[in-house]
Amino acid sequence: MAVLGSLFLLLVLEKSPNFTQLNGLLAEPIRDLPQLNLYLRESKQHQDAANPYVQWFLHQSKKPLSIHTYEESQDWAEDPFGRDYLVLVMSLGQLVSNRGAAAPNQKAGVFFYILADQSEDLSAQEQLLLERSCRQLWMLHKIYNRFFLTRDGIWIYDPFKRRDSAFGRLVRYYGSEPLDKLLFHDINGYPLRIQMFRSVYTRPEFDKDTGLLTSVTGVDFLVAQMLRERLNFTMLLQQPDKNYFGERSANGSYNGAIGLIINDGVDICLTGFFVKDYLVQQYMDFTVAVYDDELCIYVPKARRIPQSILPIFAVGYDIYLGFILTAFACALIWFTLRVINLRLRIVSLGNQHLWGQALGIVVDTWVVWVRVNLSHLPASYAERMFIGSLCLVSVIFGAIFESSLATVFIHPLYYKDINTMQELDDSGLKVVYKYSSMADDLFFSETSPLFASLNSKLTWNRDLRADVIDEVATFRSKAGVSRFTSLTLESSRFTLLRQIWVVPECPKYYTISYVMPRDSPWEDAVNALLLRVLSVGLIVKWIQEEKSRVDIKMRLSILEANAESDLVRVLTIGDLQLAFYVVIGGNLLAFLGFFAEHFWRKSLKK
Ligand SMILES: *[C@@H]1O[C@H](CO)[C@@H](O)[C@H](O)[C@H]1NC(C)=O
Ligand SMILES: *[C@@H]1O[C@H](CO)[C@@H](O)[C@H](O)[C@H]1NC(C)=O
Repeated sequence: MAVLGSLFLLLVLEKSPNFTQLNGLLAEPIRDLPQLNLYLRESKQHQDAANPYVQWFLHQSKKPLSIHTYEESQDWAEDPFGRDYLVLVMSLGQLVSNRGAAAPNQKAGVFFYILADQSEDLSAQEQLLLERSCRQLWMLHKIYNRFFLTRDGIWIYDPFKRRDSAFGRLVRYYGSEPLDKLLFHDINGYPLRIQMFRSVYTRPEFDKDTGLLTSVTGVDFLVAQMLRERLNFTMLLQQPDKNYFGERSANGSYNGAIGLIINDGVDICLTGFFVKDYLVQQYMDFTVAVYDDELCIYVPKARRIPQSILPIFAVGYDIYLGFILTAFACALIWFTLRVINLRLRIVSLGNQHLWGQALGIVVDTWVVWVRVNLSHLPASYAERMFIGSLCLVSVIFGAIFESSLATVFIHPLYYKDINTMQELDDSGLKVVYKYSSMADDLFFSETSPLFASLNSKLTWNRDLRADVIDEVATFRSKAGVSRFTSLTLESSRFTLLRQIWVVPECPKYYTISYVMPRDSPWEDAVNALLLRVLSVGLIVKWIQEEKSRVDIKMRLSILEANAESDLVRVLTIGDLQLAFYVVIGGNLLAFLGFFAEHFWRKSLKK
């Protein structure tokens, strides 16, 4: 159908164009343009205004149009048109010269050149000339969105069609789609420089001897492959930049991927960037957001409770409190029973004073409480039954104590971890970060005194190869900042081995995008593809797959570790420490008691 339509157009274009044909040709390219600037040549204004194309733009385009005049010989300043959409009447000679008005340097604009002086279609020679000048502009500034309106139809420069082995060819335009769509269905193996460096979802591998990149794996690489397949470009994987994302230096220049983008060193960077202000918005564009992540703080895991006092921490303080208070409450109830029995003369007091009885009852209660046998039972059956119930309660308490004790000997207990930003601040740990982009708005000082205090604790580790997480785990004297996914995917070893602890309160959340030079020709095509991949859920799927691969690996290694030891733990003499301490403590108390009794007796004898 499209082919037939274009044949038809070719036939009717043999004669001079009329408005219906022009509607068919030009309606699509100007559909989304908000307004157009029409430039006529000052010296040939009347002739230019009579041109059918100019007439069409004036009367049929239905777009806001501002009309200017210019001279072809005029010297234009650095950036003649900015990001405007332009219609220029021009001679072919001026156009192929790539000077003055024919030399835009912004990729964002759309240009219509009306070649008014041509009496016939471009000859083969003229086509080659024009093609060469277009190729030059493409090489210099990647400018491609240009239409050449000749008497017999419209030409465009397709930078991806080949003329012999070189890229770029002048072809006819049949009015189907705007160029940012039309040209990017298939870019014919055009080489694109792709930058990928080590990050959460990008894992480059290097040759051991030469240090050169051999392959890349990870979600980002799957995305890259999908883009390559769909756009049909040749992927020129660049050697990863040693400065990763890039930092701003004092003189305002950038290194790393941002520096490459500013200096036209790369066409797309397919490693995810946090979407935020890097102060380079006139050079760099983000793609649509592809995934998201949190920035979290990790700290050294709290220390283990030492073996010697471990049993004390076996149960919570509430159980201890319940155990002790219930004992006294029960003693009180028993004593009440005794008093009632005495009043009703069911039992007799014997030779003991009432307070002596009370003391006896408290002691007896504790004897039952710690599950020792009573040497004699009280005369009253009510009291005996009450003691029976006490025995049951003490059995339950005892079971809890014993099972908790057994557990803590096998599963180590830790002191309390840092769980909030406030606790992090109180701990006084320095917070180390590697990429300056992580820190510049991690703790916005203005938001609260807490964040201001934390902000002052941030320290920058400039060595990008440093293993901060390992330092945090071994030296235990600082905290680190990292992406949450990076902690779960790459550093789960540290969390599983209980060397680091990720503070559950994460201070920052980001969406993540790829980046490319601003107004890149393929920006719309790449975004459209990414949106389609996102909407069918492929990226989520790839991320989940990566996570489950890590999970499986971790589980396997845990299984192996467990098989080797640890799960069935043999208790050693070391675990008995507390028992010895208690014995020693008891002996000391007994000695003190002995001396106290001894001297009391002596003083009584005197
Ligand atoms: C992709 O590019 C190659 C040239 O590198 C070309 O031969 C091929 O036809 C293009 N299109 C598709 C769909 O493969
Ligand atoms: C800016 O500083 C960096 C190093 O800090 C240096 O490599 C670069 O050449 C400097 N650029 C200019 C324009 O001075």
